[in-house]
Amino acid sequence: MYYTIKWDDTAVSMLDQRMLPVQEIYRHYTNYHDVADAIRSMVVRGAPAIGIAAAMGIALAAVKNKLSVLDEFKTEMARVCDEFAQTRPTAVNLFWAISRMKTIIEEATDIQHCKEALVDEAKKIHHEDIAINKKIGENGQKFLEDGMAVMTYCNAGALATGGYGTALGVIRSAIEHGKKIKVYACETRPYLQGARITAWELFKDSIETTLICDNMAGYFMKKGEINCVIVGADRIAANGDAANKIGTYTMSLLAKAHAIPFYVAAPLSTLDTNTLNGDSIIIEERSIDEVAYIQGVQIAPEGIFIKNPAFDVTPADNITAIITEQGIVEHPAATGIAPLFSVR
Ligand code: MRU
Repeated sequence: MYYTIKWDDTAVSMLDQRMLPVQEIYRHYTNYHDVADAIRSMVVRGAPAIGIAAAMGIALAAVKNKLSVLDEFKTEMARVCDEFAQTRPTAVNLFWAISRMKTIIEEATDIQHCKEALVDEAKKIHHEDIAINKKIGENGQKFLEDGMAVMTYCNAGALATGGYGTALGVIRSAIEHGKKIKVYACETRPYLQGARITAWELFKDSIETTLICDNMAGYFMKKGEINCVIVGADRIAANGDAANKIGTYTMSLLAKAHAIPFYVAAPLSTLDTNTLNGDSIIIEERSIDEVAYIQGVQIAPEGIFIKNPAFDVTPADNITAIITEQGIVEHPAATGIAPLFSVR
């Protein structure tokens, strides 16, 4: 059985997602700089998974640190946290996990205890994430009826999280409830997370999956072959606007035009109450080579202008419901995410 990420006492191990679906290769990092690089270079990706990776990277830095003066140790660990905060800007789960680790560092009174507490916290963030995804799945599966065809975009599965997945967790849960569910996975240009990763993990689980190019989505919706869309999110603003992989916004418009429900499944750690609406979410710009090349093959003329924003924002108005472990907000355009906090 594969795993996304694992704490190995002297190393952080993870499946190299850049190699999928052709090769299943695990990397074992013994240096925290390499864990930060792994996040930056997409060895590990997906909002919850990069939060877990950062927490484990910080724990690794602490365990390997040789400083014996508490203040110096704390200063160095604060710098390590900042290094992880520079890796990717959009997914708020990264900053949420770093902030949990920072609290432990700031409150520390003893280096050895602090190291142990950081390791425990990183493992806890990982284990909690899996349990949270199962709860999201349980909460969301009620929207899926036996025989439905569900479209998903990018990868919000086991490989984007500690395990089980958010959007794919809802699908997995519906299937565990005995419902027959078919999945349409959009390939998700330019980085092809849908083709390479979602199709791979659903195929491994024997979940009936049809891979389509992104520009085929409207065709299948118009034909009546899609009953709903479920995606994950990287950051959900207070008003319910949700940032997710570039192209999600387009899918939401297509779903709206065809009166197809559009669900966003995400943990509370993806909710950002400090960001009022989607306009202030920082959108990561990635290398233009991801657009100009596919698997090392050049597909555009040298020197052409290229843009590569990695995420876009789906307005709350296009979202039928936001599904979390805490509960569900239906029609978030009316209330934002506030109802999730009033039931806490
Ligand atoms: O650039 P990526 O692959 O990290 O983008 C991932 C996504 O957009 C996912 O849909 C999102 O992080 C939710 S993962 C549960």
